Amino acid sequence: MLLSVENLEVKYGNIQALHGISFHVNEGEIVTLIGANGAGKTTSLYAIARLRPPEAPRVTKGDIRFRGESILDTRPSDVVRKLHLALVPEGRRIFGNLTVQENLQLATYAREKNADLDKDYQRVFDLFPRLAERRNQRSESLSGGEQQMLAVGRALMTGCKILLLDEPSMGLAPVLKYELFRTLKQLNEEGMTILLVEQNAKLALELAHRGYVLDTGTIAAEGTSEELLGNPEVKKAYLGG
Ligand SMILES: Nc1ncnc2c1ncn2[C@@H]1O[C@H](COP(=O)(O)OP(=O)(O)O)[C@@H](O)[C@H]1O
Ligand SMILES: [Mg+2]
Repeated sequence: MLLSVENLEVKYGNIQALHGISFHVNEGEIVTLIGANGAGKTTSLYAIARLRPPEAPRVTKGDIRFRGESILDTRPSDVVRKLHLALVPEGRRIFGNLTVQENLQLATYAREKNADLDKDYQRVFDLFPRLAERRNQRSESLSGGEQQMLAVGRALMTGCKILLLDEPSMGLAPVLKYELFRTLKQLNEEGMTILLVEQNAKLALELAHRGYVLDTGTIAAEGTSEELLGNPEVKKAYLGG
């Protein structure tokens, strides 16, 4: 097991946001966490990325393990550098006044080594040709879809092997959503492990191998994507009947 979250409880101040949730991600999988707004999806990703308060919650119980070892004491920078986990945050958070190239370059400071740097730039530009065309453009001039590509590209430039994606389809036109999800599929086929958080449950389950349904800080259902897509309660609550 690559990544496992075990009976995790977290709090923001005195407010408990996760009530003892467990889920795991195997190497090479795409796993999705779906659920309504406020369910605890972002909180789960922040906990794994080891972000710290005030932005991220405090773990009060349970564990997060990477290849069997607790990472609760791991620094956020080491999560990227040593565990090769990279978070693509909700809302992209790219630097609008920097160019595409500069945004990608910034991410390379998080790397352990720069040996495969050229290869990784090439991979980003192969996956997202539009970023190559716009590499010297200020990032704020990109469309929403292109900014999301840049956010994924930036994560790839850290040399990551596991991508944590927070609502990557949000705000994108349908055609761009599908394009982005096809790219995620391709990345996975090339070996990338993916933990995908989405409110768009149908889209997420069509891509993922397995999923978990989060409901107010607890796991309400879990299974293969086929199981969840066929689950009457999941259908009713998250898939529009
Ligand atoms: N910085 C914060 N301070 C206090 N409560 C927060 C904070 N961030 C999130 N929460 C609360 O934690 C719960 C889970 O939020 P979140 O993980 O953002 O949900 P989701 O990503 O599924 O929409 C919600 O009740 C939310 O109000
Ligand atoms: Mg969220």
